[in-house]
Amino acid sequence: MGAVRGTAEKEKPRIYPKSEVEVRGFLARHYDFLMNLMTLGYYPVFLRKALEFMDVKPGDRILDLGAGTGRNDAILARWIGPEGRILGLDIGEEMMAAFRKRFAGVPNVEIREQRIDVPFDLGERFDKALISFVLHGFPHQVRPVVLENVRAHLRPGGSFYLLDYNEFTLSELPWFHRTAFKRMECPYAFDFIERDWKAILKDSGFEPAGEKLFFRKMVRVLRAVRA
Ligand SMILES: C[S@@+](CC[C@H](N)C(=O)[O-])C[C@H]1O[C@@H](n2cnc3c(N)ncnc32)[C@H](O)[C@@H]1O
Repeated sequence: MGAVRGTAEKEKPRIYPKSEVEVRGFLARHYDFLMNLMTLGYYPVFLRKALEFMDVKPGDRILDLGAGTGRNDAILARWIGPEGRILGLDIGEEMMAAFRKRFAGVPNVEIREQRIDVPFDLGERFDKALISFVLHGFPHQVRPVVLENVRAHLRPGGSFYLLDYNEFTLSELPWFHRTAFKRMECPYAFDFIERDWKAILKDSGFEPAGEKLFFRKMVRVLRAVRA
């Protein structure tokens, strides 16, 4: 979800200065805890339900773009079994450190430093791909690059899961949620919620194939199959 930036951190410049998804400093070090706090303890329940929608099977190979601390992957790892594989991609030093600590000694779950908003080739294809609370934080002109990276790394018929904000207008939100969104989110997120993501996915070589909604329909996990 959106970030609250630390103020006292000495930071290298962000790739997109207005973005909040390059999580660093205090927020990065306490990311999982802060998500629990912001959702009044509901986050673990929500995550489990959202990830169950991925219908992960033993042996699945999963690519997680912007994997962060690996909290999602800790759930997915239970379902893939020893013969499955999870590869996370990220650029945040503290987030990747948390991921490495979490999966120390787990041979089939790995994080790699890789920008996901530029073209890349990992030289392998996956059964499933996940992007969780990352895409809303990018300028719209680079989102197609991210989607093409996903498409290029899925096997034909493989599934992409976009876990992020749903489409909504701010005026329809209850006061508390509207205020929280306005305070915490970057300009790119305001643009993200107004777009027709099923149409964008179709234009990007995917076939939308179901969705599940959370947090009073503010959050959605959208499934799209690589055409
Ligand atoms: C809001 S966090 C979400 C983390 C995780 N997906 C989750 O749901 O808990 C966004 C993540 O995206 C990563 N990120 C931001 N910009 C990125 C980029 N250009 N390439 C790769 N990762 C990026 C950040 O380092 C951070 O770990």
